[in-house]
Amino acid sequence: MISAKQESILVIGANGQIGSELVEELRRIYGSSNVIATDIKEPSTEVKNGGPFFQLDVLDFPKVHELIRKNNVSQVYLLAALLSATAEQKIKSAWKLNMEGLLGLLELAREEKFKLFWPSSIAVFGSNTPKKQTPQFTITEPSTVYGISKLAGERWCEYYFTHFGVDVRSIRYPGLIGYKTDPGGGTTDYAVTIFHEAIRNKKYTSFLSEKSTLPMMYMPDALRATISLMEADASTVSVRSSYNVAGMSFSPEELAAEICKHIPDFRINYSPDIRQKYADSWPQSIDDSVAFKDWGWKAEYDLCRMTEDMYNHIQHALVSH
Ligand code: SER
Repeated sequence: MISAKQESILVIGANGQIGSELVEELRRIYGSSNVIATDIKEPSTEVKNGGPFFQLDVLDFPKVHELIRKNNVSQVYLLAALLSATAEQKIKSAWKLNMEGLLGLLELAREEKFKLFWPSSIAVFGSNTPKKQTPQFTITEPSTVYGISKLAGERWCEYYFTHFGVDVRSIRYPGLIGYKTDPGGGTTDYAVTIFHEAIRNKKYTSFLSEKSTLPMMYMPDALRATISLMEADASTVSVRSSYNVAGMSFSPEELAAEICKHIPDFRINYSPDIRQKYADSWPQSIDDSVAFKDWGWKAEYDLCRMTEDMYNHIQHALVSH
């Protein structure tokens, strides 16, 4: 489905939860030298040794522009952002990074004509949104800074497509689960930390309550969704704000029960904090039929398969260290 072809790709925010895995996958598909990784921080050894890397602040637009021009960049993945819990602590810098970063890149895309990917989130939805099988087009009244920035970003994406023909594509990611990096500052991150704690200590205290069902997705599915959307023929991409995509839905209680199949003496406690409020405002499950219709999206990992894979990888890493 995904073919190797000559692209020059720039990833901004390459050290993050999505970036570090996406860079690896893009390099595998398009060739290492064709994928330039950038981040404001020093990269991991994998990212550094795997191909070109530049330390770069996304808000330094002249430098971003120069990099794009010099390398004849045809695709940009803009992944630099603050997640929900961190953004609530730093509302102004979250808005600046999440919003000005996007606007700057949309302007550059207008001028340099590259294809742009920008991640949105289930956080664009709010308490008035239907919680189950949340439709593609529905009420979006986010209550977090992060959600507000994502919703505004979606509107800007559509605006730049409609008015200036910018080929921008976006996905409303559910909570993302992966074993390769530590997530940073998200509400759905409990579903990553729980594995590390379960394997190391056989216990975990969840900051979300036992029944907090949220939409989630395993990283291999998220990477496939992202690259499939970027590879889709432009004429099939009917949504230029952001696509709903679904993976699986579960609560901390259900995830804990699944982990117990691998670690029978694992115990979970609940001590909800402020993040409970953010979770309560988000959907429980997502209707992704538009993404299916437009570019054939279908998730492969369910709770059982994801848990088994996470467990095996984290367990293996621990034993071999
Ligand atoms: N995973 C994100 C968060 O929890 C939601 O998109 O902030």
